[in-house]
Amino acid sequence: MNYRHLYHAGNFCDVVKHCILVSLLQSFAEKDKPYCYIDTHAGTGLYDLESDESTKSGEWQEGIAKILAETSAIPQLVADYVACIRQCNYSDGPITQYPGSAYLAKQLMSFNDSIMLNELHPEDAHLLKNTFASDPRIAIHQQDAYQILKALLPPAIKRGLILIDPPYEHPKEFEKIVAALPLALKRFSTGCYAIWYPIKDKRAVKKFLDHIKALNLPNVLDIQLNILPEDSRFQLNGTGMLIINPPWQVEQKLEPVLAWLWQKLSINGQGSYKLEKL
Ligand SMILES: C[S@@+](CC[C@H](N)C(=O)[O-])C[C@H]1O[C@@H](n2cnc3c(N)ncnc32)[C@H](O)[C@@H]1O
Repeated sequence: MNYRHLYHAGNFCDVVKHCILVSLLQSFAEKDKPYCYIDTHAGTGLYDLESDESTKSGEWQEGIAKILAETSAIPQLVADYVACIRQCNYSDGPITQYPGSAYLAKQLMSFNDSIMLNELHPEDAHLLKNTFASDPRIAIHQQDAYQILKALLPPAIKRGLILIDPPYEHPKEFEKIVAALPLALKRFSTGCYAIWYPIKDKRAVKKFLDHIKALNLPNVLDIQLNILPEDSRFQLNGTGMLIINPPWQVEQKLEPVLAWLWQKLSINGQGSYKLEKL
């Protein structure tokens, strides 16, 4: 396992992924009923943007730094996401701490909700435990993501959001996701599954989406935002998120936000964004 999210925290993919996550968490919180959140690849929770790793990659400069520099009116959802980031930092100082998916869930979920975080990397799992140890809502696991998914489903609380956010280090990660979904959905068919994927190779993405379509799921939303043309070679051109069983009206909420994010994050107006039902 070579991947460390600290190099990538706050990059353009995180910005889009975390805005979508905030929107999903907000939708779940609209009903006055507890829900659970399962994060199969949780990372460490909080990332130091002044660390050697973040500074070396500089990826956050092309992501969250662009959003924080925005002085004109920003969409409410982005403002809510930025508020979560500010809460992790000294109120009058610069932003040095960036909250990952696990931390956003901790901030936006209530005391009745339940949070299950999983991270396989030993050092990151240790950091995750240190960050969240004192929160009684949170259970932390250190297992393979697809094993823990089996073990945690169906959850005791029958409303739930599951984030599957792998690093795609494994050449067969797309296939592993497609293989894991039927059993997960059999055990918890009403769960909302948000699955992040990178857009590097157009053909690999198409093959993945074709396999998802072949599962014949009734309600799947696909979201893509490219900051470069999607067939540029050798780099990450865009970020994708599949949402199985999306909450009501999430598409309408996200469309204007994606339009705004694409304008801010795109490199010289390249790429595009889209939301469509699969
Ligand atoms: C993209 S990062 C997660 C970022 C995090 N979800 C966020 O949004 O802040 C992927 C994480 O998955 C972990 N990981 C890699 N392989 C794994 C596996 N088989 N099971 C669980 N975690 C794994 C990596 O160590 C890394 O921390």
